[in-house]
Amino acid sequence: MPQAFDFKTAVPWGRSFTEYCAFFALDEFAPGAKVLDCGAGPSSFAVEATERGLSVCAADPLYSVSADRIARRIEEVRPTMLASIRQAQARFVWDHYGTPKKQEAVRLAAMQRFLADFGGDQRSAQYVAAALPSLPFRDRAFDLALSSHFLLLYSKQFDLAFHLEAIRELLRVARSLRIFPLLDLDGRRSQHLEPLRQALAGDGFESEVVRVDYEFQKGGNEMLRVELRAQ
Ligand SMILES: C[S@@+](CC[C@H](N)C(=O)[O-])C[C@H]1O[C@@H](n2cnc3c(N)ncnc32)[C@H](O)[C@@H]1O
Repeated sequence: MPQAFDFKTAVPWGRSFTEYCAFFALDEFAPGAKVLDCGAGPSSFAVEATERGLSVCAADPLYSVSADRIARRIEEVRPTMLASIRQAQARFVWDHYGTPKKQEAVRLAAMQRFLADFGGDQRSAQYVAAALPSLPFRDRAFDLALSSHFLLLYSKQFDLAFHLEAIRELLRVARSLRIFPLLDLDGRRSQHLEPLRQALAGDGFESEVVRVDYEFQKGGNEMLRVELRAQ
């Protein structure tokens, strides 16, 4: 059964705009495109994208608490995050970040940008407290939905039924969806990937596994792209 979101056990950890562009092969955005980052957490993608004039809405159950509480939780989980990356160092490709400590610095910089915006008097990005599998958005409110390091990565924690419900909901509110990575936390290809693709094909969606120019988890250089099949 899927776990309900619980702030006390949440592990807020966030990535940057540049990293998202690499995960999702976002070379360019269609003018006026509306993007939803779902499970956005303390990523700086939304604020950095908004500063570039793009329209990005970040959604996460985490946004029901204050920036101060999120900042304290980041400090609490930080030693464990660094220790676990160091322990599993051989499972990652270090060409891009160099060392676990340098990678932590990249993450902390992204999260500081998020916290400054989320906790500021006038937020530049839009943040909505919401949890899959049910989103408070109208049908087709977005052109593109992104799921970075949530769906498929937590395949052991969230079952196939949750994933299918969540993806159908994302495809209700957005015309297309991209998910990265396709590996679970153990670095294995998600066991839900192919059953999901089959179910989505039955719903009339086409999905494609796309190779991207980013690899941190070894073998984690692919994303899933899903959209309505052309008539
Ligand atoms: C590992 S973080 C990834 C954050 C960000 N997307 C990134 O790549 O930097 C996973 C996020 O999923 C969020 N999350 C957990 N349960 C969720 C749910 N049911 N619906 C949407 N997001 C959820 C968590 O709060 C957390 O912020």
